[in-house]
Amino acid sequence: AAMTAPLRLTDYRARGYRRLPSSVRDFVEGGAGEERTLGANLRAFGRVVLRPRVLVDVSAPDTATELLGAPLATPVGVAPTAYHRLLHPEGELATARGAGRAGALYVVSLFASRTLEEVAAAATGPCWLQLYWLRRREVLADLAGRAAAAGYRALVLTVDAPYLGRRHRDARNGFAIPPDVRAVNLDPALMAAAHRPAPGRSALAVHTAEAVDPSVTWSDLAWLRARSPLPLVLKGVLTGEDARRAVEHGADAVVVSNHGGRQLDRAPAALDALPEVVDAVGGACPVLFDGGVRSGADAFAALALGARAVLLGRPVLWGLAADGADGVAGVLGVATEELAHTMALTGRPSLSVLDRSAVSLAAPR
Ligand code: FNR
Repeated sequence: AAMTAPLRLTDYRARGYRRLPSSVRDFVEGGAGEERTLGANLRAFGRVVLRPRVLVDVSAPDTATELLGAPLATPVGVAPTAYHRLLHPEGELATARGAGRAGALYVVSLFASRTLEEVAAAATGPCWLQLYWLRRREVLADLAGRAAAAGYRALVLTVDAPYLGRRHRDARNGFAIPPDVRAVNLDPALMAAAHRPAPGRSALAVHTAEAVDPSVTWSDLAWLRARSPLPLVLKGVLTGEDARRAVEHGADAVVVSNHGGRQLDRAPAALDALPEVVDAVGGACPVLFDGGVRSGADAFAALALGARAVLLGRPVLWGLAADGADGVAGVLGVATEELAHTMALTGRPSLSVLDRSAVSLAAPR
C-alpha cells in the first residue's frame, strides 16, 4: 500500500529502513550497555508539560536565530553522525543540501564518507566540523587547517568517547563498515580496523581503541586551539562542573549530549542534564542540545530550558535513508513547522521570548 506523506519525524523511520540491512539499522538505532540512557533520553520528553499563554499576537511565529555569528532559519540542526553513505549513495552531500534547504546548521562528522571539501561545496548554510582526539595529533592539526580553509565555521570536539561505548547490537552482529563506504577524510591505513569484521566484536570499538587518544585532558585543548582560528565547541558535557571548566577553558559553545545513549550507559537523560549545564554556563557561551528529540515540541522544550539550538541525530539519518536530500530537508522542515506551531500555541512567537516559564516537568513515572 502506498504510504501517505510523512507527518511526523518517526514517519521517516520505516521509510528509511525499508531497503537497509538489519545490521545498519542496529548500528543507527542502538545504544550502549542495557540501553538505559537511550530509553531515558526519549522518556524525559514525556515529562514535559507546556504552559501556554494566551492573547499574544502569534500571527507570525519566527524560528530564526543566530549561532557563533551565523544566521539560521531554524534552531533545529544536524548532529554529527558517521558514514552517511551507509544510508544513501550520495551520503553527506545529500545531507548538506537538505540542511541548506532548511536553513539549518550541519555538524559534519570526522567519519564522513565524503570529503569535507565536497560537503562544504554542496552546503548553502553554515557547517561545523566534528573531531575526535586522534592519537596521531598531526592528523588532527591537518584536519583543523583543512576545515578553516574549506569554510567551516567551528570545530566540535567530541569529549564523551575516549573509548567507544559497549554497543551489544554491533558486537553481536560482528558489525564492520562495508568496504565501499569509507571515512575519506582520513588515511585508509588509519581506518583499516573499522572495516575488519570479527565475530562477536564491533570493528568500530576496535578501531576507536586504536585511533582515539584516551589520555587527553583539559590542558590539551590549548594545543588544538593554537592550530585553528575557528571557534571550539565541546560536545558531550553533562554536568555543571564540566560546563564551568569548559567556560574557564574558553569553549565557544558546549553541546549537552550523551551521544544518543551510545557511550556511557546510565548517564543522565540529556534533557535532565540541560538545566544544570545552562545554569553553570550562566550565559558565558551558547549551549546546544542533542539526544532524543523526535518532534518540534521536543525541540521547543529543550529551547525553553535554555538550549540555543537543538541537533537531530537518528531522525536526520531516517530522512536521508528515505529520500536523500529531500528526506533530510523534510525531517528538518517537519521539526521546524512543529516548533513554530508550538511557539504559536504557547504564545511564544519568537525564540527571544522563550524561557523556562514555558514548561514544567512532571514527576518521573
Ligand atoms: C552518532 N553520534 C556521533 N557523535 C559524534 O560526535 N561523532 C560521530 O561520528 C557520531 N556518529 C554517530 C553515528 C550514529 C549512527 C548515531 C545515531 C549517532 C552521536 C550524535 O552526534 C548525537 O549525539 C546523537 O545521535 C543525538 O541523539 P539522537 O538525536 O540520535 O537521539
